[in-house]
Amino acid sequence: MAPSELAPVKLSVSGLTKYFGDLEVLRDVSTDVRRGEFISIVGPSGCGKTTFLRIIGGLEQSESGEARLDERKISGPGKDRGFVFQQDNLLPWRTVRSNTEIGPEINGEKGPEQHHRIARLLKLVGLGGFEEYYPRQLSGGMRQRVNLARALAVDPDLLLMDEPFSALDAQTREIMQTELMRIWEEGRKTVLFVTHQIDEAVYLSDRVLVFARRPGRIQEVVEIDLPRPRPLSIKRTPHFVAYVDHIWKLIEDDVRASVMEEHA
Ligand SMILES: Nc1ncnc2c1ncn2[C@@H]1O[C@H](COP(=O)(O)OP(=O)(O)OP(=O)(O)O)[C@@H](O)[C@H]1O
Ligand SMILES: [Mg+2]
Repeated sequence: MAPSELAPVKLSVSGLTKYFGDLEVLRDVSTDVRRGEFISIVGPSGCGKTTFLRIIGGLEQSESGEARLDERKISGPGKDRGFVFQQDNLLPWRTVRSNTEIGPEINGEKGPEQHHRIARLLKLVGLGGFEEYYPRQLSGGMRQRVNLARALAVDPDLLLMDEPFSALDAQTREIMQTELMRIWEEGRKTVLFVTHQIDEAVYLSDRVLVFARRPGRIQEVVEIDLPRPRPLSIKRTPHFVAYVDHIWKLIEDDVRASVMEEHA
C-alpha cells in the first residue's frame, strides 16, 4: 500500500467558486489531498489553474467554499506554503545563497545552524559550489533550482508549483523532473504542481486533477498507479502512454476551443 493511502488529509478543498467580475473562473471545486501526496493539475489555458493555486496560497479569495490546511481555514499567505512560479523572480543583486535565504531572513531565522541548513538545501537541489554566484551567471535550469531551494528554505508543508519548468528546454526539463522526484522522495512534502505537459504530470504524480474550462472545474481525477522510483524510461512503457492518452482525450476538445479563442 502506498504511504499516501495511509496519510491523513493535509489539504481539504470544498465547493470553491471564484469570479473575476462577471467571469466565473472556478465552479464548485472540491478535493482532498493527503500528506505527502504529489498532485498535478492539468487543463486548457484559462481554466483557472493559477487562480486555484493562488487561492490555496492565500493570495486570492474565493466567493464561496473554502480550503483548509491541517483543518485550519486558509485566509491569507503563510509560511506553511511555498510557491514556485513559472518565471524565476530572483533578486539580481543577491547571490544564490542570499536569494535562498530570503524566506528564513523574513522569518527572523539566522545563525550558523541556518547557514548549514541552506548549504545542505543548495546541495540537495544540485547547486553545491554555486552558492556565491549571481543569477546572471546561471542557466535557466539553475535559476529554477534556486527558486525551488528558496521555496524549500522555509520548510513549507505544502509546495505550490505553477508551471515551474515551462521556460526550460526539453532536456533540462526532464532532468529537473527527475531531480524534483528525488527531492520529493527525500522530504515527502505535499505538492500541488500545475503543468501543461501531460507526460510531466503523469511522470511526477500520485494523482492528476484534470480541469475543464468555462467555468473551471475538476473533470476527472486520474490515479497514477505506476511504481516508484520512476526512471525516465517509464515514459515509453504502454502503461504510461495509456495514462497520457487518456488525459489528453479528456482535455483535447477544451484545449482546441481555448486555442481557437486565443486566435479569434
Ligand atoms: N486578476 C484577474 N482579474 C481578472 N481576471 C483574471 C485575473 N486573473 C485571472 N483572470 C481570468 O481568470 C481566468 C483563469 O485564469 P488563470 O490564470 O487561473 O488560468 P490558467 O488555467 O492558469 O491559464 P494558463 O494555463 O494560461 O496559465 C482567465 O480567463 C483569466 O483571464
Ligand atoms: Mg496559469
